[in-house]
Amino acid sequence: MSDNHSFTRNIVPEQQTASPQHHEKPLRIAVLVSGSGSNLQALIDAIEAGQLSNTEIALVVSNKANAQGLQRALRHNLPALHLPWRERVEAEAKLTAILQLFAVDLIILAGWMRIFSTQFIAQFSRRIINLHPALLPDAGTGNVYLTSDSTSIPVFRGLHAVKQALDADVKLTGSTVHYVTAEVDAGPAICRAEVRVEEGDTEETLHERIKQVEHWLIVEAVRKIQHE
Ligand code: GRF
Repeated sequence: MSDNHSFTRNIVPEQQTASPQHHEKPLRIAVLVSGSGSNLQALIDAIEAGQLSNTEIALVVSNKANAQGLQRALRHNLPALHLPWRERVEAEAKLTAILQLFAVDLIILAGWMRIFSTQFIAQFSRRIINLHPALLPDAGTGNVYLTSDSTSIPVFRGLHAVKQALDADVKLTGSTVHYVTAEVDAGPAICRAEVRVEEGDTEETLHERIKQVEHWLIVEAVRKIQHE
């Protein structure tokens, strides 16, 4: 996107805010999914229940036509579209245009399985956030994380972070919402929560418990960004 202004959050001019009826414009979010979209559902539910004020889901995008996340969006009458991801340059150009068209303020990667180019990310500096099912350090970088029980554990990045945690036999893992930077799963943390690994956990059972935590964590992250 050459014109970043259209992506800058618009604040209602001062003279219009004098009256209490005038509020800051809602934060317009785009949620990008590739699969089940349970975190998208958590955002929808929080908005509908009034637990996430002044926020609207402007758009849901999936690179997979059969993603359950698209069905969730349609059930709640949210604009939703399938964007095939055959060739990255072309797909990113389309996505940029669509995000501009829908005047999106914040892009949330919630189970989005495609890696963006450095150029795409640079256009939306600190405007793209990602949910990662492992604990990332504050700065996002580095290979060691200190848990609340003062144990140093490795930082698990990439597609198989839950399995890596099990394989490493850690007692605590969790989830982090972080800003997206060019380095995958290595951007500054916004918020995170720990999840205890239970005896007999499989990748599925552990990931399911992590997701339960993610459902409030992603809502918390949006609230935090709104108050920045
Ligand atoms: C989440 O665990 C998230 O951390 C990871 O992908 C999963 C998406 O789950 N990046 P869902 O599609 O929101 O159910």
